[in-house]
Amino acid sequence: MKIFLDTANIEHIRHGVGLGVITGVTTNPSLVSREGKVDYRKLVQDICSVVPGPVSTEVLGQDVQTMVSEAREIAKWAENIVVKIPASLEGVEATSVLAREGIQVNFTLCFTLNQAVLGAQAGAAFISPFVGRLDDVGEDGMEVVADIVEYLDYYQLRTQVIAASIRHPQHCLMAARAGAHIATVPYQVLLQMIRHPLTDIGIERFRDDWTKVMTREGLV
Ligand code: E4P
Repeated sequence: MKIFLDTANIEHIRHGVGLGVITGVTTNPSLVSREGKVDYRKLVQDICSVVPGPVSTEVLGQDVQTMVSEAREIAKWAENIVVKIPASLEGVEATSVLAREGIQVNFTLCFTLNQAVLGAQAGAAFISPFVGRLDDVGEDGMEVVADIVEYLDYYQLRTQVIAASIRHPQHCLMAARAGAHIATVPYQVLLQMIRHPLTDIGIERFRDDWTKVMTREGLV
């Protein structure tokens, strides 16, 4: 499973890419607005220049024509741009038009297998089921991820599943078990994924034992 960062913060993205484990980024209007007053296009282009893989950015229009023309414009911003289109009826049509033009679509705000089926049939390159938001309303977000993965595998479709709206490290391991191709994680969750107290204790113990022996042998 690949790991994308779910943020528009360029410093966090630089750090994640520097670790060598972040191969893509997803943004949305809420994440971009957290970066304060920014030049949207420049911010996205800066992100694209740092990230070695797909960078998803969302259209704001809601009707087919507006979504399609926004997406065509956004697609010119960088080679690795993916346009996020919401899983509405208008979004299905916009996705079909854009996919036929070779523009990569991330079919976002997906909450059911039925929505994912339509997104995949429309030609979306990625589908993003929102796990945390489903869990928030008492549904099982990861079950939706597993259902979509199974459907895509069964029909040998090339669309990839991005487990999105990830809230904690447990979501990441569940996404991997469910066979998600990608998990897009907030920066804090990326940092939490590596942490374990036994690793810290182990590192400290090895260092102490080594220092003891070196001291005893008079080598320090
Ligand atoms: C994914 O593409 C979305 O940007 C994101 O995962 C939404 O997460 P949230 O539900 O925590 O806002």
